[in-house]
Amino acid sequence: MLIKAMMVAAAAAPVLAGVAWAADAGRGRALAQQRCAGCHNIDGGARSARRSAPSFSEIARQSGFSADQLSITLTYGHVPMGDGRVGPGEAGDLAAYIVSLRRR
Ligand code: HEC
Repeated sequence: MLIKAMMVAAAAAPVLAGVAWAADAGRGRALAQQRCAGCHNIDGGARSARRSAPSFSEIARQSGFSADQLSITLTYGHVPMGDGRVGPGEAGDLAAYIVSLRRR
């Protein structure tokens, strides 16, 4: 059942990534620790390990920011990450986590 749901989500256009998946901010945080913390500050603080990388709280506060838009950015990868693309489900989780930082 879950596999089937995952296949449906994967088949949907990547644009729907943030919508088609039940995003989980807790999973997003764990992913961020593994995949993003090397460059970005992921905990709501301002200083990132890599100076040119905005902290996640800065990203969350950008005007026009939305979880859907962020999922799309992450699905296609951003330039400094090179091959660091994430799957649609992962992107939704990460986006949900980053959005959650905005309220702090
Ligand atoms: C190798 C270092 C590195 C890693 C790892 C990395 N980033 Fe970045 N990221 C950067 C830099 C540098 C920038 C600023 C330059 C830019 O926007 O292209 C950035 C910008 C961003 C932006 C701003 C949006 C954009 O592309 O303009 C988002 C969102 C982002 N990163 C999310 C993530 C997430 C989520 C992860 C983990 C899956 C991650 N990054 C991992 C270096 C990194």
